[in-house]
Amino acid sequence: MLNFKPKNIVILTGAGISAESGISTFRDKNGLWENHDVMDVASPSGFDRNPELVHKFYNQRRNQLNSENVIPNAAHKALAKLEEEFEGEVTIITQNVDNLHERAGSNNVIHMHGELMKMRCVESGKILLWKSDLSVDTKCPCCFKKGNLRPHIVWFGEFPLFMDKIEKKLNDCDLFISIGTSGQVYPAAMFVNMVKANNQLAIEANIEETNISESFDFHLTGKASEVITKLVSDILAL
Ligand code: OAD
Repeated sequence: MLNFKPKNIVILTGAGISAESGISTFRDKNGLWENHDVMDVASPSGFDRNPELVHKFYNQRRNQLNSENVIPNAAHKALAKLEEEFEGEVTIITQNVDNLHERAGSNNVIHMHGELMKMRCVESGKILLWKSDLSVDTKCPCCFKKGNLRPHIVWFGEFPLFMDKIEKKLNDCDLFISIGTSGQVYPAAMFVNMVKANNQLAIEANIEETNISESFDFHLTGKASEVITKLVSDILAL
């Protein structure tokens, strides 16, 4: 599959890489969007209508992420090992709002959809680390007003973060690996087209084929923990 030694690897991750750590995906059976109306809990209009419901949804997600049984799995660890041992550059662009890549040891991580463990003041735009629950009565530590904090999450209808940096990373890479994402949310779903326009090699890893599998040069079928551990050891052996 890999008949050259890459110098610059970009990895896109989605909810599937964290599924084996016990975090629900969005669109699989029993996924988050099957049990919640996305426009109620993940849109600016939903937050305007019912901020308490939105806070409750993200408080649950944050508490789950902080629970002791949610830990990085073998796929997160393999990517951290790749960053540490690979001679070239490794960048992770993640759609995930969890912190499992960082907890596994990855340093070069771009969170394009925001982060669960951060809040943002809607007045100042200041981003704050946040571990506990949030409610409409929580006072913002920067402006001291109630109701000014919102989750630092990119909601539907909002622009993903760091797009200029991401575009440059995609242009500069010679190997693109997409892991555990259904390819249904843009712009992440079109990253493969951007790299293929430059003739870079693109590999998809997922437990099943996705709507965009045909755009990739190779599709690896299986659990991320197994497929990515093997792929990383193959890359490090080149
Ligand atoms: P999805 O829930 O849409 O897709 C998860 C993918 O992971 C599916 O294609 C599964 O087949 C695959 N999968 C599940 N378990 C796996 C495993 N053990 N190993 C490998 N693959 C596995 O999640 P995303 O594509 O990440 O946005 O969703 C993209 C965005 O949609 C999310 O970031 C979120 C959501 O709305 C925001 O909240 C802004």
